[in-house]
Amino acid sequence: MAYLDHAATTPMLPEAIEAMTAQLAVTGNASSLHAAGRRARRTVEEAREALADALGARPSEVVLTSGGTEADNLAVKGLYWARRDADPRRVRVLASPVEHHAVLDAVHWLGEHEGATVEYLPVDRYGRVHPEALRDAIERDPSSVALATVMWANNEIGTVMPVRELAEVARDFDVPLHSDAVQAFGQVPVGFADSGLAAMTVSSHKIGGPYGIGALLLGREYSPVPVLHGGGQERHVRSGTLDVPAVAAFAVAGRLAAERREGYAREIGALRDELVDAVVTAVPDAILGGDPAPEGRLPANAHFTFPGCEGDSLLLLLDAQGIECSTGSACTAGVAQPSHVLLATGTDPDLARGTLRFTLGHTSTRADVEAVAKAIGPAVERARTAGLS
Ligand SMILES: Cc1ncc(COP(=O)(O)O)c(C=O)c1O
Repeated sequence: MAYLDHAATTPMLPEAIEAMTAQLAVTGNASSLHAAGRRARRTVEEAREALADALGARPSEVVLTSGGTEADNLAVKGLYWARRDADPRRVRVLASPVEHHAVLDAVHWLGEHEGATVEYLPVDRYGRVHPEALRDAIERDPSSVALATVMWANNEIGTVMPVRELAEVARDFDVPLHSDAVQAFGQVPVGFADSGLAAMTVSSHKIGGPYGIGALLLGREYSPVPVLHGGGQERHVRSGTLDVPAVAAFAVAGRLAAERREGYAREIGALRDELVDAVVTAVPDAILGGDPAPEGRLPANAHFTFPGCEGDSLLLLLDAQGIECSTGSACTAGVAQPSHVLLATGTDPDLARGTLRFTLGHTSTRADVEAVAKAIGPAVERARTAGLS
């Protein structure tokens, strides 16, 4: 088997499994005052410190959530509500059009139900938002901007955004900028304090931690209106009893992701380059998606468009050979839709149907690349023939 869908989820690290299983046997609600509760609280706070350290933040800036989706919703909706409540003129939400659905659909919902005016920032052919584009959009009417949101790195085509420069522009106008760093964490440096961001999303299951846990890094000066109301556990912006075993394991994965990032990025980048070479050798008209420059894309991402193919057919043909990857785009009612990311980069919709995303991770080996090298040529040939019949 060659698992090449690490951007969807990556296997848990043994160290994270160990931390999680140790905690599963321990009882304690981190909000309880007795000894068991205090023990759970200590585990949570140590984990928070480790996460803050791994993400270049202060512990008080780590708001634990149920994952990336919840953190994105809290940032986008919560900051919108707080900013609009403070000044009703602030209704503009500026977003990149290549965001993950957790941001894109939250932004869209604000437009449909909460009176937001959503404006999509222009992107170049690699899906990148340039700082001037953000400046132009804010400058049209700075006092009406509620927030801006631009992901750190794209989950489909791997393009890395100039987040620090974008944050500088946002700061010039006192506009909070949120960035979804779910795919960036562990692959490129994502220091929160250095970034100048107001808020940043991370998720555990993308870095070798368990599912169902993530965090919103949130500057102390921001108080988003909560999406979940209840016990007020996390800085009164996020309620819910904390999942102590998951929090402990997330922290271990986060620490290792930060410690190993440099060497990992180098090694996985070299393996990814081999995969790209192998695919382009086998299928010379395959088009590499995203920025071809190594510094402009995630080291573990390889995205291709195969003219004349349906991505779904290709995916299933490869799956039958034991190779697991993704088309990168979502299905609506079982019908493959061209990816909104590719459409935003100006790709022809017909061409955009023939995409495959290979994403590598900590368990990837040269044997995985060799399996793709062997299978991709015949799979594309079959998918093309199927497309003609
Ligand atoms: C860029 C990005 N944002 C958000 C998410 C959602 O994260 P989670 O699965 O933790 O809800 C994902 C996961 O696919 C992602 O790739």
